[in-house]
Amino acid sequence: MIETSGPRRIIIGCDHAAYRLKEILKTAMEAQGIAVIDAGAHSEVAMDYPDTGKAVAQKIASGELERGVLLCGTGLGMSMVANRYPHVRAALCNDLFAAALSRRHNNANILVLGGRVVGDILALEILKTWLETPFEGGRHQRRLDLFDTI
Ligand code: RB5
Repeated sequence: MIETSGPRRIIIGCDHAAYRLKEILKTAMEAQGIAVIDAGAHSEVAMDYPDTGKAVAQKIASGELERGVLLCGTGLGMSMVANRYPHVRAALCNDLFAAALSRRHNNANILVLGGRVVGDILALEILKTWLETPFEGGRHQRRLDLFDTI
């Protein structure tokens, strides 16, 4: 169960390969009072992951929303799409260490998961860790600022 002191509004998106896991994560977040904006997919019918990846990443890039979650089969395609957008720091975290460090050091604003890689319980734990872990700032902010010089 997620008991988060983190963001109260999350946008989530997936493709057909991770639809089932998306529904599980969405239900868990809603049970904790987090407002979940569902960008699709809405079924297991095959679709193209860049479409939902774009929908989520655009909302983060524009500043309309602060945090999002993306899922596809491996998490790789969604990461590639989302990280094309300015100000998006999408982190593929299929383990707990990556989930914690992606927040503490990288201030990741999109969590990406591979629905065909992680089990449901691990995915829920990764999500909980990612939502609850704060950014450390300091030297890590300096490093993130360098992104904008690239
Ligand atoms: C869909 O078959 C699969 O390619 C997609 O879910 C994802 O893993 C792409 O990176």
